[in-house]
Amino acid sequence: MQAVILVGGEGTRLRPLTSRRPKPVITLVDRPFLVYMLEWLRGHGVDDVILSCGFEPTQVREALGDGAALGIRLRYVVEPEPRGTAGALKYAQDLLDERFLMLNGDVLCDIDVSAQLRRHEETGAVGTLGLVPVDDPSAYGLVLLDEDHAVTGFLEKPGPEELVGLQTTLISAGIYVLEHAVLDLIPEGRNVSIEREVWPRLVGAGLFGAPAQDAYWMDIGTPDRYLQGTFDILEGNVRTGVAERLGPGFLAVADDVRVDGRIIPPAVVGAGCRIDAGAHVGSLVVLGPGVTVGRGARVERAVVLDGATIGVGCEVTDCIIAPRARIADGAVVRGGAVIGEDVTVGSGNILTAGIKVFPGTELADGAITF
Ligand code: GDD
Ligand code: MG
Repeated sequence: MQAVILVGGEGTRLRPLTSRRPKPVITLVDRPFLVYMLEWLRGHGVDDVILSCGFEPTQVREALGDGAALGIRLRYVVEPEPRGTAGALKYAQDLLDERFLMLNGDVLCDIDVSAQLRRHEETGAVGTLGLVPVDDPSAYGLVLLDEDHAVTGFLEKPGPEELVGLQTTLISAGIYVLEHAVLDLIPEGRNVSIEREVWPRLVGAGLFGAPAQDAYWMDIGTPDRYLQGTFDILEGNVRTGVAERLGPGFLAVADDVRVDGRIIPPAVVGAGCRIDAGAHVGSLVVLGPGVTVGRGARVERAVVLDGATIGVGCEVTDCIIAPRARIADGAVVRGGAVIGEDVTVGSGNILTAGIKVFPGTELADGAITF
């Protein structure tokens, strides 16, 4: 089975995590995000994947290569300029089979895509959208169905007035089964949105929905959802290989870690980390390789990536710290803050309220205290 995965977006909502690193290869728990998608797809018989890239994917190629390590044939298609979600598909058309899967490259899920494929065959659809319920559909593509699951309406990012009177909370999961004929609806050579220009044209003309049963699904494209996806993996809510490696204790600590403080599971602690006396790490924490947590510091509900340093007595909660950032003694980072790569946060700073600090910034002692 073939799949094309769109990975050409700029990942702006995940900045500064994605300032220097494309969304597909930012680390989620302990590996590049896209590896979760590829392993999940392989489990459903996908052996041929085309990555549709909007710009030269050097870092993606370095991380994933030709896919051999994952048992998948991996090819890259690079658009001359970003073509949008449908334009990207059109640009890859010469490589596409008669029937294929198309996926947004930022979904963490364990949806039974084999069942979705079966539904597609049963209905004879031109396209079948994987669907999931969410509390607030306004950030997604809302889908209306009739009793046979034919799509009767598709509203991309509906505004409050469009939502009035609608009972459904089913949205497009960004997972589609498509027939090659869909490509005939996409004009060549320009930016085209599949959500705004193709789905509406297929309403009543062969577009079906397949609501997922008992599945986990999360678009990890914002800091909050990236953190939530991390916690869900750590708690075993997503059926991924990581849960098995964490084992029943929900704790994975690499061999060469020096722990003088405490680790409270669920947690993953990478190779070469050092947790000093009196420090608390967990619960719901990922420490990437080579992270240092100073004496008496508290790290909870947080992701601290490769080589970052947390100083003495710091509080680091509900936040993301990118590789090699330095949080000086006594600083506080919390409330959804995202600290970029190679940032230095001086002593006495209190960073909260979703603040984003861009790569390389040096915050002087006590510069920000709200
Ligand atoms: N190749 C290429 N070229 N890929 C692109 C481009 C482009 O021009 N633009 C976006 N992408 C990729 C992104 O990298 C991402 O993997 C995917 O297409 C979807 O883009 P997002 O920017 O993440 O869209 P969204 O999350 O706001 O909304 C989409 O996903 C929702 C589910 O998560 C829509 O498809 C919604 O309908 C859907 O509900
Ligand atoms: Mg998205």
